Amino acid sequence: MGSTKPAKERNAALDRAHDIARAFLDSLPNRPVGPRSTFESLVQSLGGPLPESGDEPARVIEALNEAVEPGLVGSAGPRYFGFVIGGGVPAALAADWLTGTWDQNAALNIASPAAAAVEAVVAEWIKELLGLPMEAGVGFVTGCQMANFSALLAGRHGVLAKAGWDVEELGLQGAPEVHVVIGEEAHATVLSALRLLGLGEARAVRVAADGEGRMIPGALKAALAPLGGPILVAAQAGNVSTGAFDPLDEIAAIAHAKEAWLHVDGAFGLWAATDPARRGLLRGVEDADSWATDAHKWLNVPYDSGIVIVKDRTNLNLAITKSAAYLIRSSTEARDNHDFTPESSRRARGFAIWAALKSLGRAGVSDMVNRCCALALRMAARLREGGVIILNDVVLNQVLARFTPRDGRDPEAFNRAVVARIQSGGVTWASGTRRHGAEALRISVSNWSTTAEDIDRSADAILAAVRDEDRLA
Ligand SMILES: Cc1ncc(COP(=O)(O)O)c(C=O)c1O
Repeated sequence: MGSTKPAKERNAALDRAHDIARAFLDSLPNRPVGPRSTFESLVQSLGGPLPESGDEPARVIEALNEAVEPGLVGSAGPRYFGFVIGGGVPAALAADWLTGTWDQNAALNIASPAAAAVEAVVAEWIKELLGLPMEAGVGFVTGCQMANFSALLAGRHGVLAKAGWDVEELGLQGAPEVHVVIGEEAHATVLSALRLLGLGEARAVRVAADGEGRMIPGALKAALAPLGGPILVAAQAGNVSTGAFDPLDEIAAIAHAKEAWLHVDGAFGLWAATDPARRGLLRGVEDADSWATDAHKWLNVPYDSGIVIVKDRTNLNLAITKSAAYLIRSSTEARDNHDFTPESSRRARGFAIWAALKSLGRAGVSDMVNRCCALALRMAARLREGGVIILNDVVLNQVLARFTPRDGRDPEAFNRAVVARIQSGGVTWASGTRRHGAEALRISVSNWSTTAEDIDRSADAILAAVRDEDRLA
């Protein structure tokens, strides 16, 4: 018996998607890294009236590719250094394709034992790899924003429960005040988590940081001294600009002397634990109460993939409990994933993480982290040789570069112009920022496929952009 029409149409669409995917991946090492189209023209290509009737799946896939291709960014490729964006190691990418195909609802064990089991296994592997307490609970969320939110949610539960307040039942109105203490350079997503949690961004006490963005322990001690009752402290492992680490061992001792909950935002920095040469940067990390990180950054799992880890898992479980008669819980010790994430129905993120860890192994993850750091140092050295100022101490994978015009041009405008020139040049892509009031270029080396040759080509393109901009004067 031949295939039915729907099966034929489905297979034709999948075949077309497969061909398009392979062509895209093959193009990554050589395609212009930045986009070749604008938002407006992409909207025009994709838009038009809502179709009245449907089209064949393969034709839809073809049309989608044609419309969006010029607007795609080569961020999965080897010379993209914007923000902190990892690529996708092949096994994780392939597993991610299957995740869509299998279309499992990862919320409940009864809805997908496979999705529950893979998250149970991956949770153990991640804790072991990152050197975190093995009793901790682990949830698989969209990204570090949600991981920070979920961890601080657990922390909010923990400190208020200790004060005799049931925040889930009673809310924050009338609750004992929760003091929040964060570093001056806490990531924007920690601030938005505080907003979402009803704790307020402006109420957080900001602790002074040093030139690299590291929280100063003495300043933390002074900030905590007048505070009593429930306290949340959020520290950072891996500053988004400099890559610097808060001194976690000292911070943990100071925070715990005040019985505070200590959270560590380690979106990419937690992965330094896998590299023996950099593990020391995380000294004391295991003494925290919660951690947030991403698999879509330095584990190079395709988007989206964030991880929340809470030492006393009951704080996470109780902060997010959901129940209804039809949400049938696992009757055994088996895991129900929705006990660990604010989301209910969601994608089965564990499969791609499992595939990444299985294909890389402990040694492969360690090599990838170590290689990215070595390549960041190479980039810094190449740029320095070309007269560029490197603003940060390159301890990890982040490089901050500042350009100096030869003539009397406004240095801020010059830096902005060089960044725009680099971004439109096509060879490489990195994003701009302001550091201590001055414009700078941020370079984040986070991709498994980046080679020394990619760094050299990119450094040459950056130096050429500086020269070309200088010539304009
Ligand atoms: C330190 C830090 N925390 C949190 C985040 C937010 O991560 P995501 O965009 O995956 O939510 C980032 C992103 O770069 C980060 O560097």
